[in-house]
Amino acid sequence: MTDTRDLLDEGERLDEAGLRAVQLERLRATLRHAYTRVPFYRESFDKAGVHPDDCRSLADLARFPFTVKADLRAQYPYGMFAVPRERVRRIHASSGTTGRPTVVGYTDGDLSLWSDLVARSIRAAGGRPGDTVHVAYGYGLFTGGLGAHYGAERLGCTVIPASGGMTSRQVRLIQDLEPRIIMVTPSYMLTLLDEFERQGVDPRSTSLRVGIFGAEPWTEGMRREIEERFAIDAVDLYGLSEVIGPGVAQECLETKDGLHVWEDHFFPEIVDPITGEVLPEGEEGELVFTSLTKEAMPVIRYRTRDLSRLLPGTARVFRRMEKVTGRSDDMVILRGVNLFPTQIEEIVLRTPGVAPHFQLRLTREGRLDALTVRAEARPGAGPADRDRAAHAIAAAVKDGIGVSVTVEIVEPESLERSVGKIRRIVDERPKE
Ligand code: DLL
Repeated sequence: MTDTRDLLDEGERLDEAGLRAVQLERLRATLRHAYTRVPFYRESFDKAGVHPDDCRSLADLARFPFTVKADLRAQYPYGMFAVPRERVRRIHASSGTTGRPTVVGYTDGDLSLWSDLVARSIRAAGGRPGDTVHVAYGYGLFTGGLGAHYGAERLGCTVIPASGGMTSRQVRLIQDLEPRIIMVTPSYMLTLLDEFERQGVDPRSTSLRVGIFGAEPWTEGMRREIEERFAIDAVDLYGLSEVIGPGVAQECLETKDGLHVWEDHFFPEIVDPITGEVLPEGEEGELVFTSLTKEAMPVIRYRTRDLSRLLPGTARVFRRMEKVTGRSDDMVILRGVNLFPTQIEEIVLRTPGVAPHFQLRLTREGRLDALTVRAEARPGAGPADRDRAAHAIAAAVKDGIGVSVTVEIVEPESLERSVGKIRRIVDERPKE
């Protein structure tokens, strides 16, 4: 961190006391804004017997009720907005695999804040004005593409708005336009990797130096794989549409030690996923965010379902969140043992003979759930290598996670490839 300090913006230069003071002031204003403008919050605060004036310290936030995804769905489409629709300049929506999508809105001020925070994220990842940034997050209702796009422009970069898909064209663009930075989901980066190899281009020979990866969980094993195969630095970017989109937290290039939460705008808590009790720093639980400066759609104690832990700041004053282990929705409970796809990812990525592509297939045998790990053989891996890999994966799952699974090593390039967020779990259990 030698000369980067002069690059920091005003919020990043706050000291701890200054930061807490700014947070409290903004928190109180947000609670008031939500309470007076959004009937949903007025009702939920009243029901819990709390009023914005009851918030005198940051710890008082714990007295306020949570907001969950179902609340946002119930208010579809505009019920959570705290400003007249005419002041809403942009809408995004989450895909919503089940039921109604979740709609989020931004005022001019929110869009500007969002750009500032994504610019801050790209800078923390090592981006500088004048860099060329290839954005391969999807454009559209998903916040990834447009969020990254305007943030990169705000920083003063040249943006290539590639969006997701048309993989062979992406490879061409990267070769011809020579971006230094790529922003994409880690799983789609692997799809690009295959395509580079298919076209006979050495992925290490490109102009890319930094990858800013997010929108889905990924592991240290995946970081090593991508860094090695592309000769780049890979850092983690986190966010969710309900809170703003990408740009809620970012890992700094100089430390690569978890993601600094942009706490001057989003107040993080970790709660026990079952009891909702606030957990002390360092303990693992569900991430909860309260926006501190958003206008169109403030969120109060929004339960993300993402599991992580909060750690003290390092490269920045802001606290860090550890890489997300997974979403509570993606947790598989197998004969009483909890298992996350990221745990399997770690194992697959350190097993010789298999490629970093895998899928988890859930079935039911009699009354018991069963899990099959399907992992792809690396090209050239013969029958003996494949056998060894299958045994190694099964043994590592048994030893490390404590449950028996079946492992199938499948042909190279036979598993579904990602164009955005990858689907790891294929649930073939009969519907109840
Ligand atoms: O995925 C926003 C985003 C776009 C973040 C581009 C980073 C880069 P949603 O579609 O609303 O928004 O999905 C949010 O994705 O609750 C997490 O479960 C997951 N997620 C996002 N970033 C990460 C990450 C965007 N870095 C949901 N690590 C979140 C793990 C992530 N999971």
